[in-house]
Amino acid sequence: MIPAKERLIVALDVDSKKEAERLLDALKGLVKIFKIGAQPFTAFGPKIVDIAHKKGGKVFLDLKYHDIPDTVARAGREATRLGVFMFNVHSLGGMEMMRKCYEASCETAEKEGIQRPKILAVTLLTSITLEALQNEIGIKSKSMEDEVKRLASMASDAGLDGVVSSPQEITAVREVCSRDFLIVTPGVRPAGAQMDDQKRISVPKEAIKAGADYIVIGRPIIKADDPAKAAEEIIKEMEDI
Ligand code: C5P
Repeated sequence: MIPAKERLIVALDVDSKKEAERLLDALKGLVKIFKIGAQPFTAFGPKIVDIAHKKGGKVFLDLKYHDIPDTVARAGREATRLGVFMFNVHSLGGMEMMRKCYEASCETAEKEGIQRPKILAVTLLTSITLEALQNEIGIKSKSMEDEVKRLASMASDAGLDGVVSSPQEITAVREVCSRDFLIVTPGVRPAGAQMDDQKRISVPKEAIKAGADYIVIGRPIIKADDPAKAAEEIIKEMEDI
């Protein structure tokens, strides 16, 4: 059982390294894992990962690798060398891509004496609708849940540790994957908070009850006047289950 405090991942969606440092300091001792996505990583490179590590945080490197298997395997090797706690690939890159990445990460971790990061697969982005899935991407699954189940099973068969999926699909993933298969879910808002541009949301308590292991929250914490207080309230909500 993961303690409530360790279930919260804060999205470090920041425009400057200074802002990242301010948040890491403000949340020290309270939040253990920070998500670094495409924007801060493109702006600041691996330096931003170092900053989080030096401030005592663990890192979820959210770069959603999606390329030919060899390239993703080599990217996975480098993510492993960065010492991150978690990183992800896109499940639509296929079974071979996911498996090669997993194998490269295992091999690198073992050879270089590094703790192997948990590797997650993004199932379907929450911005994708059923209509876009069928008519733009050309996948003929009858529902989002059916497609997410198919992709989550594939990720599990490839050896990955879990998936990133919307709160609406947690139950579907749990139907096809074992309890130790991780589910990380964004699109979560504390009770009564602003929705920002998130549409299909859930509150932390419901997401955990439905079977999520970790929740990712950005703006309600990083834009709060008192980020530590905002994080504390969310953790309290999860402890209350
Ligand atoms: O600010 P907010 O709480 O909406 O941030 C959520 C974080 O999770 C952002 O970094 C966003 O890119 C990410 N994310 C998401 N939906 C997904 C995948 C990732 O909101 N399906």
